[in-house]
Amino acid sequence: MPRTKFYEIVVKRGFYGVSESGLCGKKDNVRKFWEDVFIKMSIRPAIEQLLEQKDKIRVIDLGCGSGEGLELLTHIPPSTAVKKVNKEFVIVEGDIEIYQGVDISPAMIKQGKQNYSNLPQADFVEADLSEGFPFMQNAPYDIYFSSYASLSHLNYAELEHLTEQIFSHISSRGYMVFDLHGRYSPEWPGYWSKDCHLQLPYTMAYLLPPQEQDPNKIKWFDVTYYSGSELIGLIESVADASGKKVKIINMRDRSIFVGRHMDTSLFKKQRHSIRTEVNRLFDHGYRGRISGLGFDIDYLEEVKDVNHQAWTRIHDYYNLWQTVVNTLHALMNANNTEVRKIIESSPEILADELKMLAWLYRNADRFPVVDFWASVMGPQVACILRNLEFSLPQGLGCGHSLFCIVEIENEKKK
Ligand SMILES: C[S@@+](CC[C@H](N)C(=O)[O-])C[C@H]1O[C@@H](n2cnc3c(N)ncnc32)[C@H](O)[C@@H]1O
Repeated sequence: MPRTKFYEIVVKRGFYGVSESGLCGKKDNVRKFWEDVFIKMSIRPAIEQLLEQKDKIRVIDLGCGSGEGLELLTHIPPSTAVKKVNKEFVIVEGDIEIYQGVDISPAMIKQGKQNYSNLPQADFVEADLSEGFPFMQNAPYDIYFSSYASLSHLNYAELEHLTEQIFSHISSRGYMVFDLHGRYSPEWPGYWSKDCHLQLPYTMAYLLPPQEQDPNKIKWFDVTYYSGSELIGLIESVADASGKKVKIINMRDRSIFVGRHMDTSLFKKQRHSIRTEVNRLFDHGYRGRISGLGFDIDYLEEVKDVNHQAWTRIHDYYNLWQTVVNTLHALMNANNTEVRKIIESSPEILADELKMLAWLYRNADRFPVVDFWASVMGPQVACILRNLEFSLPQGLGCGHSLFCIVEIENEKKK
């Protein structure tokens, strides 16, 4: 083999390309360490419960893309923090009897098949879910999964019809996972006054550099945005019509301030840079820019009366977020009196997190890392902001996504 032959091969195979950093792009740090984690933590109890009853589970991924759901579901960390260190994930590929991916896009299906060609239980099929559930003849699935707003591509009536078919397909017990665009997101105040029977424009132009985000040149498509009560209404009316017993296991607002369009001005005048800053916080190669975590949401005053409950929820979360930022400033200025004052006046859930942050900051020298801020403090701050969002009450539709898991059982309670 000529001396350079090995390197010729690895360069050709793409190993020496510019690797995509976690600071931007489709699978950025916020997607990996905030949004994916949020989904994993939400669905874990349902999967753990299923595994108590059966060895292998059957999954269908609705609008599967190239199989992202399979990757997600097989990388859920167990709930025990320190015990069983050798068990990395709640389920692994071998625990899945079938993963049935379905998507309208031929390119996605082709990619999915390619990604999982070594996994015999993974199957990808092209179908349009707006026309209904294409697998009524198959045995029921345990989880009817969807992620990252695939089902928002359907209009209300289409999603209602699909849900009806899925509920009737479930023979004893199953879970349906909705992950839809939230209507009261601070990203699109102009949509707050609309309702879920109307599809409204959306764009993925956040993937383009800011200078190319010209609203007249980018691609727009229509999607459906939901409030919490509209989604509950859909689920309950379908349950009534199909005679099924349903339980909403959880409904949460995801990405209230880190939604992709907070950092664009395609739906609102102001361009924030919150996702950018949180991407940096999560990244072990960058120190977080704490001053960048401050932002203002005064522009939402104009929709305060459109939905006061959503507006209040966003402000409650905003206050928690800013308290974390204020604590960091006080720590950096060695203002211990201020740190103590903030902690003492914070709700318990936040006070505990702030005490831990203060401890970390004051014990930085104990950590054998090259850059304490980049490796320990920044990621920890981002996790706290994420966990605070996760701990909010039932979702209202005021995040980029409204995430919901429903348990469906055959018999409706009399
Ligand atoms: C934002 S992507 C999400 C992909 C994947 N679930 C993920 O987690 O990354 C939305 C997906 O929905 C698919 N989709 C859109 N309309 C659909 C339809 N009517 N039927 C089936 N799939 C659809 C798209 O092709 C796309 O792959």
